[in-house]
Amino acid sequence: MSPMIEERIFNDFMEFVRINKQPFDTLMAYYQCAIMEIETKFRVLDVEFSLQYDRNPIESIKSRIKSHESLIRKMRSRNIPLNLQAMEENITDIAGVRVICSFPEDIYTLAECLLRQDDITLIERKDYIQNPKESGYRSLHLIVEVPIFLQNQTRKMKVEVQLRTIAMDFWASLEHKLRYKKNIPDDMAHELAEELRMCAEQSASLDQRMEDIKFRIAQAGGEQESISRRKIPRLIK
Ligand code: GTP
Ligand code: MG
Repeated sequence: MSPMIEERIFNDFMEFVRINKQPFDTLMAYYQCAIMEIETKFRVLDVEFSLQYDRNPIESIKSRIKSHESLIRKMRSRNIPLNLQAMEENITDIAGVRVICSFPEDIYTLAECLLRQDDITLIERKDYIQNPKESGYRSLHLIVEVPIFLQNQTRKMKVEVQLRTIAMDFWASLEHKLRYKKNIPDDMAHELAEELRMCAEQSASLDQRMEDIKFRIAQAGGEQESISRRKIPRLIK
């Protein structure tokens, strides 16, 4: 996109936000409420696990509302008309919750526990752990709908949940830097991308080894294994 066109699109969007200020702000507040609901669900699960198994599966939770700039880009690139209904229907990651876990198995356990809840509807599930992206990116993505309970209505809101290990998160942050850095010569960007792809494999292998060690420690100590040990496919061959 040329800077001129980009400026026009930006201005159009800001005009749209200005004209629809009250409903736009209200909708964004609803997304914020949906984030609070989802975060609480994960915090509750974390507390329950720590009571039961004496360890916390969640390292941290990071949430965000999509920025105006990133909203414009996405609506523009997907040709979504500039109205709130189209925006809400088509942009599924306006509310984003990222759950960083200690071990890969925690990701699947937490996802299952969330999806089992009565008020959660699964819209889409993408498993980039079993099927990593070309880049090497790994995470489990869920688009869910969660109700928020307002004074006179219950409203279902879409939230994108990304579950990943600390190692996957560390990798994604660095790769994100490369992805959005301008002015890196093509051949260097290529080389770094390849290096990152290899790092992703090593990192996945380390995640798996650490999980195996944790399991063996628990077994040797005669502990009840924290979370039923499922046979998840090895992350790398
Ligand atoms: P988006 O238009 O980016 O939302 O793509 P999508 O709708 O196909 O969704 P997808 O599940 O592929 O990715 C959504 C989000 O996952 C992105 O906004 C990033 O936060 C993250 N993500 C996906 N792929 C990559 C990747 O290769 N590298 C990094 N660092 N993050 C990624
Ligand atoms: Mg997306």
